[in-house]
Amino acid sequence: MVRRSRVGVAVLAAMAAVAPLSHAQLFGRKRTDLTTSSPDFKKSLAPYVTSPQYVVDRMLELAKPKPGETLYDLGCGDGRILITAAQKYGARAVGIELSERLVKQARQNISDMHLEGLARVEQGDIMQSDISGADIVTLYLTTTANETLRPVLERSLKPNTRVVSYDYPIPGWKAIDQMDRQKNGQSHPIYLYQVPASFKQ
Ligand SMILES: C[S@@+](CC[C@H](N)C(=O)[O-])C[C@H]1O[C@@H](n2cnc3c(N)ncnc32)[C@H](O)[C@@H]1O
Repeated sequence: MVRRSRVGVAVLAAMAAVAPLSHAQLFGRKRTDLTTSSPDFKKSLAPYVTSPQYVVDRMLELAKPKPGETLYDLGCGDGRILITAAQKYGARAVGIELSERLVKQARQNISDMHLEGLARVEQGDIMQSDISGADIVTLYLTTTANETLRPVLERSLKPNTRVVSYDYPIPGWKAIDQMDRQKNGQSHPIYLYQVPASFKQ
């Protein structure tokens, strides 16, 4: 009996070793900005990590926003991409963000820069949001998140919309341009896609 339970414990330990990590284990509580008790925790596609400002600058150089065009940052964090797009390019900028705290912070940052006329933030899930008005979409999520999001991008975005993704490609799409940034011997690419040319591999 004792022997059988020891075997059982060993089997359970082996299963735990190969079981996929949970969302909480992957992202950790601190990095998601959402606690596990939040009703939105399961909707989170990526942790909160900010793009450095020089990466934001390179992303927008690739996207080339024109005044009057509309940029959507899907998972906008503290709003830095929206602020740069509005301030430097005169673009309209819309952020979608799940975390209530980050929505408040991004709105405050926009207000501090007096950019309310051009930039705004919606609290919500990017999988459920209307992004059809975008001329440019910016992403800093994960490859898996981009794959999850791809059908939404394909059915919602109008022809010629540019999509820029930092660090992670959109699986199944072909980039029309790419910039590479090296840091600590590692490559951090920025991918530029265009609808629908990039849909074909
Ligand atoms: C890596 S951060 C990027 C923040 C910002 N775009 C930047 O580049 O600095 C990803 C952001 O996406 C948000 N996020 C994750 N899943 C989301 C979802 N389903 N809907 C809306 N926002 C989401 C996170 O809260 C986080 O702020």
